[in-house]
Amino acid sequence: VIELRCSPAEGRPTRVRIADGLLLGPNPIATVAGSDAGRRIHALVDRRVAALHPGLVAGLDGVLLVDGGEELKSFAGLEAVLRHLAGRGAERRDVLAAVGGGSVGDLGGLAAALHLRGIELRMVPTTLLAMVDSSVGGKTAINLPEGKNLVGAFWPASEVLIDPGTVATLPDAEWRSGLGEVLKVALGLDAALFEFCEREAASLLDRAPRTVARAVELALRAKIRLVEVDPFERGARRLLNLGHTLGHALEAWSGFSIPHGVAVARGLHHAVDLGERFGGLASTEATRARNLLRRFGFEATALPPRGALLGFLGRDKKVEGGLVHAVLPTAIGASATRPFRPEDFLPAG
Ligand SMILES: NC(=O)c1ccc[n+]([C@@H]2O[C@H](COP(=O)([O-])OP(=O)(O)OC[C@H]3O[C@@H](n4cnc5c(N)ncnc54)[C@H](O)[C@@H]3O)[C@@H](O)[C@H]2O)c1
Repeated sequence: VIELRCSPAEGRPTRVRIADGLLLGPNPIATVAGSDAGRRIHALVDRRVAALHPGLVAGLDGVLLVDGGEELKSFAGLEAVLRHLAGRGAERRDVLAAVGGGSVGDLGGLAAALHLRGIELRMVPTTLLAMVDSSVGGKTAINLPEGKNLVGAFWPASEVLIDPGTVATLPDAEWRSGLGEVLKVALGLDAALFEFCEREAASLLDRAPRTVARAVELALRAKIRLVEVDPFERGARRLLNLGHTLGHALEAWSGFSIPHGVAVARGLHHAVDLGERFGGLASTEATRARNLLRRFGFEATALPPRGALLGFLGRDKKVEGGLVHAVLPTAIGASATRPFRPEDFLPAG
């Protein structure tokens, strides 16, 4: 079992465990995390995950099944979880386990922060994206019609339990979405992960559990380094937005028909171009980055015209004082932010 710890100076610590088959025993969420007698575990579980991986929720009695996806992150979804907890008489010392992808984690995390002003949260991420990104760092949220993730709280999980074998059943689009985030961390933050992805590409693309486990470990170690110095996302953590400025604009422009990770991967190609021009990224390294993206199936596809994307850039949280604070790779595994006028950030066309 790989064990990691995220211990920010301010805020509560998170323990992460990663192992193939971690959650196959009887009542794994209670047993693995060593639940004390007398504390009950209530669970919010993705319906599809419960059907595909029944062992994950074996032994849990208070399970609320939900349909994972962006629609779940609503006030109606939040109310359903809070009423589930209240209806079961969940106490302060009890635990809420969120089992599923990032949508279940974001909603469950917010409900855990709010029920009786806060109960313990355990995360069992079952998508690659949730394993490498949303399960650690404490950000929870629901959406408003005005925008995504506008209502939320910082409420870190106490335990994150990752069984890399669960990604075997992910639909291809969801798997690719997670790979985009892995490559983001590799390119911007962790040269060892980048080299691992180069070396183990075939096995990672096959979703071999040991390879997935190692990639998740390296990606989380990199994220944890940033979260520990910046638990409330005031500075350093913004480097996790590599590829996201263009990615978010593309996603929004497409009416969210382009999957998040695919849009991010397109944003990574763009960031590599900008890094080469403005960030001191050596052209040999830029070529390596482009090759790795292609190896994972992400091409530098044609972008919509600049005029069509500009409006979507302006809505991004990363725009301040009219400038886009974009993250650029400066070397393999290193990155920095740089302000751009929006028209300079987007390629002409
Ligand atoms: N809190 C954070 O720091 C953070 C970071 C990144 C993303 N997010 C949020 O995460 C969400 C996206 O997460 P996601 O991509 O995991 O999506 P998701 O939760 O919507 O899951 C995607 C789909 O995969 C299915 N699924 C989940 N696990 C499966 C499995 N093992 N096998 C088969 N199907 C499975 C779900 O039923 C769902 O249909 C977004 O709402 C985003 O805002 C949060």
